[in-house]
Amino acid sequence: SAFRGRSTVDGVFPEHRPRRLRSTAALRRLVSETTLRPRQLILPMFVAEGATAPRPISSMPGVVQHTRDTLRKAAVEAVQAGVGGLMIFGVPANRDATGSGAVDENGILNVALRDLRAELGDSTVLMADTCLDEFTDHGHCGVLDDRGAVDNDATLAVYADMAVAQAEAGAHLLGPSGMMDGQVGVIRRALDEAGHTETGILAYSVKYASAFYGPFREAVDSQLKGDRKTYQQDPGNAREALRELELDVEEGADAIMVKPALSYLDVIRLAADASPVPVAAYNISGEYAMVEAAAANGWLDRERTILEVLTSIRRAGADMILTYWATEAAAWLD
Ligand code: PBG
Repeated sequence: SAFRGRSTVDGVFPEHRPRRLRSTAALRRLVSETTLRPRQLILPMFVAEGATAPRPISSMPGVVQHTRDTLRKAAVEAVQAGVGGLMIFGVPANRDATGSGAVDENGILNVALRDLRAELGDSTVLMADTCLDEFTDHGHCGVLDDRGAVDNDATLAVYADMAVAQAEAGAHLLGPSGMMDGQVGVIRRALDEAGHTETGILAYSVKYASAFYGPFREAVDSQLKGDRKTYQQDPGNAREALRELELDVEEGADAIMVKPALSYLDVIRLAADASPVPVAAYNISGEYAMVEAAAANGWLDRERTILEVLTSIRRAGADMILTYWATEAAAWLD
């Protein structure tokens, strides 16, 4: 027969009972394959120049643009909850064509990094978004040429200066997220030449041109019109993810990232299997907003859904997860 077991008539079928290992909480815990720990979570945070009170982000309920002061407090709270690191994004009061606020040591992101390093020292891993889109008046991740296209090599020169400014402000890890060719190599060289050989690079190696970034655009008051398809990857492509990863590792990335996470779990698995360095995945703004909206309507159990989302990203192979739920999830997991 098609069954290897004996017939139901002797009362011993089925022979194989996978449910046995699911029958008590203790058994389920014993055989659980995937760990989810606070140290594996990284909290992305926004800080707005000149803000006197935290500003809610309507498409990301529960997430705010912080003032310098509330950023410091929320960062301490996250670290006390056990999160593995913080990724800081700046929202400047003024923008220009070259994103000069990103390089300025008194620009909001650099000021906030200094605040946090003074407050937290080496007790957490302080990370900075190394990208121009928050700082440019056109909203692109780089500077534009005279035809209005993003100029790869001119952008690299700005990234080099931005990276050194962020290292000087106290970031432990820089997160180049602009998808310019050569960005990791240029940043590594600039850091080393400035004596910042200890500052690491968490490279956004595999970053797709995704609709799920929608709420983030509100979070940083993005000025972007149009899209980022000339530099971010086509959602249909997986093979080029491996090429991007290889190039970044060769250029000196200390860790790499795949982003977004949920629509790209297969890509996370590919990257995790191929990468010689740790792999992060970014559970991005749109993924956050979907769950929050459904939970607010009573359509999903919020806590269970969040933990399932984070577990799935770990199961796909991510060593660490950037998530706006980091502090809250860390408390649940503790
Ligand atoms: C670029 C950057 C973006 C995000 C992180 N870094 C936006 C983009 O590429 O358009 C998105 C994060 C999120 O959606 O949560 N500096």
